[in-house]
Amino acid sequence: MTQRTLVLLKPDAVRRGLVGQIIGRFEAKGLSLVEMQLRTITGEQADQHYAEHVERDFYPPLRAFITSGPLVALVVEGEEAIPVVRTLIGPTDGRQAPAGTIRGDLSLSNRENLVHASDSPESAEREIGIWFPHL
Ligand code: CMP
Repeated sequence: MTQRTLVLLKPDAVRRGLVGQIIGRFEAKGLSLVEMQLRTITGEQADQHYAEHVERDFYPPLRAFITSGPLVALVVEGEEAIPVVRTLIGPTDGRQAPAGTIRGDLSLSNRENLVHASDSPESAEREIGIWFPHL
């Protein structure tokens, strides 16, 4: 089944010049870009996106990080795109993510882990609505 998922290339990906390489992995897999925008978000926008995490201990530094510079928001489409993109990204902590995944190959952090992607059809719908309300 064709799905759409919301992907963020976080400020570390932009600062480190990894945007092209990461998008290239999605394209090489056969996924398509439906929308893409470079954006710097406010704390309030971060709170909305990460609504399920705002009470967590790790949230204040995550909020500071995600608002620390431009990020790239994109909508990616393809066959089973939601789980496929999560598999390409790998587990949250870049130190534990397996080689071959984006985080496993390119990140050494569980906060500055380069990429966010929706984890379910419900979150994809919610997150696409936040970032690209016209879709
Ligand atoms: P993401 O997939 O965007 O979802 C929530 C984010 O919170 C996660 O990626 C990390 O950037 C961050 N995160 C999750 N767990 C931790 C943690 N234990 N310590 C620091 N940051 C975390």
